[in-house]
Amino acid sequence: MERLFVDTDRGLQKISRHVYGHFAEHLGRCVYEGIWVGEGSPISNTRGVRNDVIAALSKLRMPNLRWPGGCFADTYHWKDGVGLRSGRPSIVNIHWGGTTENNHFGTHEFLDFCSLVGTEPYICGNVGSGTVREMAEWLEYITMPGKSPMADMRRANGREEPWDAMFWGVGNENWGCGGTMTALQYAWEFRKFQGYCRHFGGRKLFKVACGFDDGWNETLMREAGALMDGLSVHYYTVKGAVWADKGPSTGFPVSDWYAVLRNALGIEGFIDRTATIMDRHDPQKRVAMVMDEWGTWHTAEPGTNPGFLYQQNTIRDALVAGLTLNIFNRRSDRLRVANIAQTVNVLQAMILTDGPKMILTPTYHVFEMYAPHQDAVALPVWLEDAPIEGDGKTMPRLSASASRSESGKILITLCNLHHEEAAELRVELRGSEARKAVGRILTGPDTDSRNSFEQPDAVTPITFDGVTVSRGTLVVTLPARSVVALDLT
Ligand code: AHR
Repeated sequence: MERLFVDTDRGLQKISRHVYGHFAEHLGRCVYEGIWVGEGSPISNTRGVRNDVIAALSKLRMPNLRWPGGCFADTYHWKDGVGLRSGRPSIVNIHWGGTTENNHFGTHEFLDFCSLVGTEPYICGNVGSGTVREMAEWLEYITMPGKSPMADMRRANGREEPWDAMFWGVGNENWGCGGTMTALQYAWEFRKFQGYCRHFGGRKLFKVACGFDDGWNETLMREAGALMDGLSVHYYTVKGAVWADKGPSTGFPVSDWYAVLRNALGIEGFIDRTATIMDRHDPQKRVAMVMDEWGTWHTAEPGTNPGFLYQQNTIRDALVAGLTLNIFNRRSDRLRVANIAQTVNVLQAMILTDGPKMILTPTYHVFEMYAPHQDAVALPVWLEDAPIEGDGKTMPRLSASASRSESGKILITLCNLHHEEAAELRVELRGSEARKAVGRILTGPDTDSRNSFEQPDAVTPITFDGVTVSRGTLVVTLPARSVVALDLT
């Protein structure tokens, strides 16, 4: 029997709700079709945004949404996306399929979407092909309450009151698609740009600098750590040891199941390495680690445009989400913002659409099941599990995290990563005794169980009856391939 110890009386730090953030880029069918259909669409919408998507995302307690990219951000000129839609110029989306971007979803539409789903905007500004002035004016346009050239332009475009914006990205992947800069070059650009980034409504802006690998992060923290609030890093999970070695999202062999899960677990080491670098320059942990792109990246679905990054989402993706969020909860002292890529129809999406049809993915359900961890106090957990062995490699069998909400409720989230074996887990609470445990489980009959437009609820959370409580100790039977959320009172 595997064992899990939870210290219920030794709260660590709060799990920032912002690690449960999301990301929507002008890429493939994420924004257009997935979110924005336009006011004249036969698809039911509110001011152009799909009502089914608004309803689904509103239930997720989505804390923040990053936009407009990604690589798109460093090609985006915000003035192209304001004013009468009929007068907005079309541009070429150079990174994602060379499609024509008509700029119909711009600043007003994005901020309206955020208020419709109840989330905070996290805007990523353009460093690679933009100017300091352009970025400063965007902030003035959004946040200036009084009279100014940009605030007046906003009013002329139909919005009297400023919006609120706190998270602000100063470029994206500026080592690559955002300008192919060197670490030192970007550090100096960041120092300059951030000086003109201000919230004109008086709120403190949360400025995110673009990180990368260890060497880059070391240089950036040394040169500009004192000027940033967050350091952005990205971690995508592919099947292979190299970036190009991706596998299909469905119909994969068992070896792929483990390759993906093992690589997903690698995010913990990456967080720890990055935290060590940050600790050297910021021992007080003032600067947040911002994992503002993460998730699985499989081969695009056959028959779709490979530049659109459309992939199916299975119980394997749900386990990647579950184990990653468990790691985030346990690393919440430094990791305080994160954004899964991406919200609709791209990469590890929450939602897939097909014309007027919409389905929720297994990953969506994990975010919904884990939502009570948001802003709860992280509890120390210690797992003793027999590793899974195969192909001369080992990996953990289980994944866990725990938190205590303000009302005293304890939430334990568990994943059984084995593709076919159930696990018996004894959970020992230290510092309190559980009397009652209720839970929900997400699982599926196959390693690639998924929802489809024909069977939208094939993988959906149901009541979990595999837990018993006796004298404060829980015995949990975790089926193979499962994510479980347990509420203890
Ligand atoms: O999410 C897709 C792309 O992945 C983003 O545009 C980029 O930042 C990253 O390389």
